[in-house]
Amino acid sequence: MSPPEDAPPIVVEGLTKVFPGKRRRPDKTAVDSISFHVDKGEIFGLLGPNGAGKTTTIRMLSTMLIPTSGKAWVLGRDVTKEEVAIRKRINLVSGGERGLYYRLTGRQNLRFFSELYGIDPKARDRRIEELLELVDLTESADLRVEDYSRGMKQRIHIARSLVNDPEVLFLDEPTLGLDPEIAREIRALIRRMADMGTTILLTTHYMFEAEELCDRIGIISEGRLVALGNALELKDSVNNATVIHVETREDPYKAVEALEGMEGVLHVTSDRVPGRFIVRMQVEHGSDLLSEVNEAMRGLRVLRIGYDEPTLEDTYISLVSDHER
Ligand SMILES: Nc1ncnc2c1ncn2[C@@H]1O[C@H](COP(=O)(O)OP(=O)(O)OP(=O)(O)O)[C@@H](O)[C@H]1O
Ligand SMILES: [Mg+2]
Repeated sequence: MSPPEDAPPIVVEGLTKVFPGKRRRPDKTAVDSISFHVDKGEIFGLLGPNGAGKTTTIRMLSTMLIPTSGKAWVLGRDVTKEEVAIRKRINLVSGGERGLYYRLTGRQNLRFFSELYGIDPKARDRRIEELLELVDLTESADLRVEDYSRGMKQRIHIARSLVNDPEVLFLDEPTLGLDPEIAREIRALIRRMADMGTTILLTTHYMFEAEELCDRIGIISEGRLVALGNALELKDSVNNATVIHVETREDPYKAVEALEGMEGVLHVTSDRVPGRFIVRMQVEHGSDLLSEVNEAMRGLRVLRIGYDEPTLEDTYISLVSDHER
């Protein structure tokens, strides 16, 4: 069975990847029967803990890795049978070191990859200059990539992924290791691409990035898709929880321990930020724990305490830890 002509650019049905165990280790089901689709011009985010199966999913959809079972179509074509036809019309940015020639300059890399795609030389040079401009590397275009900073490497990766004007773009942690300003520019670029009709599937560990950028989000945990929807829908899906937010001057670790065991408390996270500690507690709806929390924090200088709206991160933590349990 194949999807109709007007099917979404990415259709995934029961996709599964099992890596055979080596040296008497058990098999590893990295992706476990996931199904979703991505519409044209949509930005779809895959979120999940380390090892959840995000990169494996992207590698199967970009025809780099053969699925164990299940089906997937990209631009209406079967990822296991029509790799060549798919590869011409998609591209992939995967964080890390591979995919560029370090001894070549940025411009030479773009030229090399344009040639691989058989792009007409006249159109090619103009396009390369546009791409260099787009990722703000015009001035460093003639430096070898090995001499680029990490952020510059990531930007040339992104430029490289655009040489064939892909209709579907896979971005595996596109802003990893980038400074905030460049990360913001990359996000704006991703948004512009989607507005022009490019279909984008990305992974990220940055919740605000997912919230800002993604039309829909799939949360994956231990290979399974545990939630799917836009950020608002995801937050609503765990609306049995209310969040209590506390900020203290001193380390509240003892209070956190006490609260974790308390009836009605679902999840507690604590973070240290300069000058203060932030504790966020997800408590069951309707359980009025504010006075207990106040009591637990006694002796600490409390800067702020009160109810708060759940963020995408709260939702993520709730979904992933419930699934892992
Ligand atoms: N080639 C491989 N052989 C064996 N196991 C693999 C292989 N590639 C990935 N895995 C395993 O599959 C699981 C999923 O890995 P994957 O790289 O897809 O996770 P991820 O969600 O991208 O994580 P991260 O957020 O750390 O990038 C992990 O347990 C990993 O060890
Ligand atoms: Mg990964």
